[in-house]
Amino acid sequence: MRQRFLIDSADAFPMGEGVAVTVNGKSLVIIHTAAGFFAVLNHCPHMGLSLDNGTVVGKVLVCLWHGAQFDLATGACLRWAANEPPPEAIGETRRPLITFPIIVEDGQVVVEMEVMSSE
Ligand code: FES
Repeated sequence: MRQRFLIDSADAFPMGEGVAVTVNGKSLVIIHTAAGFFAVLNHCPHMGLSLDNGTVVGKVLVCLWHGAQFDLATGACLRWAANEPPPEAIGETRRPLITFPIIVEDGQVVVEMEVMSSE
């Protein structure tokens, strides 16, 4: 079941920066860009490190730790970490960022997330 979670006022999210928030027990990064707001799990698919200190370039998030790049809209990995060959070089698949639907309603940021029906 999909549930909506009110996060904060849109004004709380500076343009071009990631802000870590906890939503339903999960650490997310909310990113405000010129193209709108994005919400992703605060967990880099490379080594699982946090993403809230990454650099935002347009709709691309660059992980602070090893430079992997992700499309914020789709979660697709555009460039793998600079410190190792891409997963496809060893027959694996690049893992994407986990993204969440996000909307701004009446100046408030709202994230949608799947929850267990008993939550
Ligand atoms: S942890 Fe993000 S690129 Fe390595």
